[in-house]
Amino acid sequence: MTSRRNFSRRTFLLGGAAASLAAGMRLPLLGEKHKLPKLKGPQFADVTGPRSLRAHAQAVGLLVGCAVVPERLTGEPAYGSVVAEQANILVAENAMKWQALRPAPDKFDFRSADELVDFAAAHGQKVRGHNLCWHESLPSWFAGTVTKDNAQGFLIQHIQTVAGHFAGKLHSWDVVNEAIDLKDGRADGLRKTPWLEMIGPDYIELAFHAAREADPTALLTYNDYGIENDSPDSRAKRGQVLMLIRRLKARGVPIDAVGIQSHLTVGDPMPGAGLLEFVREMARMGLQVFITELDANEHKVEGLVADRDAAVAKLYHDYVAMLVAEPNVTAVLTWGITDRYTWLNGEKYARPDGKPQRCLPFDSDYQPAPAFFALRDAIDKRRP
Ligand code: G3I
Repeated sequence: MTSRRNFSRRTFLLGGAAASLAAGMRLPLLGEKHKLPKLKGPQFADVTGPRSLRAHAQAVGLLVGCAVVPERLTGEPAYGSVVAEQANILVAENAMKWQALRPAPDKFDFRSADELVDFAAAHGQKVRGHNLCWHESLPSWFAGTVTKDNAQGFLIQHIQTVAGHFAGKLHSWDVVNEAIDLKDGRADGLRKTPWLEMIGPDYIELAFHAAREADPTALLTYNDYGIENDSPDSRAKRGQVLMLIRRLKARGVPIDAVGIQSHLTVGDPMPGAGLLEFVREMARMGLQVFITELDANEHKVEGLVADRDAAVAKLYHDYVAMLVAEPNVTAVLTWGITDRYTWLNGEKYARPDGKPQRCLPFDSDYQPAPAFFALRDAIDKRRP
């Protein structure tokens, strides 16, 4: 299944320019700020240029990429180089959320998000927007300022301003994020978010209409987690997401895609028939599917690094190979590129032994992990 080769005698160059050329892409002229050092190292010759994820993905008509922190792209050469080399699509891990863009009710700060978009343009990469409407990462002023009376106005104005700012530059927007939560006990499965409580269930379609108006070219996406496997909880949530999408389609809401976040956990039931059926149902409804936030939480895996890596790699391979065989699955993004910065090292999922998680294609020293080769092998399974 997954191959990991011995590259100890080889050297490699990390550089977006090399990758793009090798991948046969039109290369934009790089300004000083976006020129990346060609890092030499005794690492893995087999992961760059034509052997990069982006080259393999391009060969089969797939987008592959990761969530990034804009300041690191230009501030940390190894990070910028790996991202430029491996990804043909980027998404901001945090920089396009309300909390990042809205320092005050009447102020927008696009500096960090613009940095990401500029970097992507310089390296021939697409960008996903994440996200326009969510119940988390709201600015501290939100609770005292946004009320039942003005919530709709705030939401629409935010979307007009933010989607308008990036109009024509983004591949897609996560318009509404994580709107379903069965624990809240509603018949329609909707999560009791501030948006739901202040505007009512219509907030979802309002957001999609506003996004379409502000940026007619971005693919408008509904994005959610916990819908991947066939456990009772996951099946039930997936069912409610499906009902939501059906309701939106029936009402003529402009929605183009569904994002399956794919925060997977090693040891959980393997996603299978139920998810495939969901993806095919999306295809019948004319919707694309993006894997938007893939990682493999290995906090419960004991043993040697090699065992942990093998378990993570198998999950990457089997999951991605299953999904990219479906023609309407068009993008695969991991939630980060290097273990160095994964959110999974936070309190909630930290490993009991205190060791850092090994959940992404590159480890914390930017060494390609078995998950890298597993992901690349899985991409190769797609029929162009
Ligand atoms: O930037 C501020 C900083 O100014 C402040 O001083 C500091 C103090 O807490 O917080 C910093 O913000 C943090 C931000 O990450 C940037 O580091 C937030 O507290 C922290 O909550 C935030 O966490 C992010 C989380 O979403 C909430 O927005 C994670 O990095 C990010 O990986 C995670 O991503 C989510 C997706 O958006 C949606 N799907 C699930 C996924 C994982 O939870």
